[in-house]
Amino acid sequence: MYNKKLIIPGLIIFVVLVTSPIWYNGLQAGPMPKPELPPGGEQNCVRSAAYMRDNHMVLLNEWRDDVLRNGNRVSITVDGKEYRKGLQLACMKCHSNKEKFCDSCHEYTSVKPYCWDCHLSPADIASKETL
Ligand code: HEC
Ligand code: HEC
Ligand code: HEC
Repeated sequence: MYNKKLIIPGLIIFVVLVTSPIWYNGLQAGPMPKPELPPGGEQNCVRSAAYMRDNHMVLLNEWRDDVLRNGNRVSITVDGKEYRKGLQLACMKCHSNKEKFCDSCHEYTSVKPYCWDCHLSPADIASKETL
């Protein structure tokens, strides 16, 4: 015979124990990072900040495909300034501090985009220029 009075509390204790690392880590995780926004006059991103927070990786892939597969390097205008579609040509022109912008979020969420194996961040470029 099963004892319902024991099974239900037993299951609850089991679930709490099994998921305890999640609870524990959730409580331990530091505060959300505040990525450093571009210095200077730029007020806007290429899309709304909310769209960018959720979808910048998708947009980057779209841009890459547009440029490399469709040969379409159309420029985009933000606050009256023109930028050519590209990771270095647009994003890093405004978000010039990869470490304090891109990396601050990615370290927090443990994402490691491999883009920088080939693409240069502004800091990479600066260190090459001083060689
Ligand atoms: C193996 C090397 C390599 C890796 C890794 C790589 N790329 Fe590229 N990417 C290139 C090359 C080469 C081009 C062509 C550059 C050109 O024609 O201006 C390019 C072009 C692009 C472009 C369009 C033009 C430009 O200059 O930005 C975008 C956007 C882009 N890559 C995004 C990404 C993103 C995002 C990642 C990571 C998820 C990534 N790439 C990873 C080599 C790479
Ligand atoms: C013209 C300058 C400019 C360009 C080009 C630009 N950004 Fe932005 N970006 C900004 C500004 C300014 C904000 C803050 C906007 C706001 O708060 O409304 C921002 C916000 C963001 C955010 C949200 C950050 C947050 O915590 O709210 C992400 C992610 C982002 N940009 C990624 C990118 C990527 C990836 C590219 C290239 C595809 C790019 N940006 C191109 C200026 C730019
Ligand atoms: C507001 C926080 C934030 C900022 C700022 C930010 N990212 Fe991200 N990024 C994320 C998160 C979170 C993910 C993982 C999303 C997922 O897995 O769905 C991600 C994923 C990516 C990916 C896909 C990587 C993969 O392995 O799937 C690329 C490429 C990328 N980011 C590029 C950039 C670049 C370039 C910048 C700086 C111009 C930037 N991000 C700034 C939060 C951010």
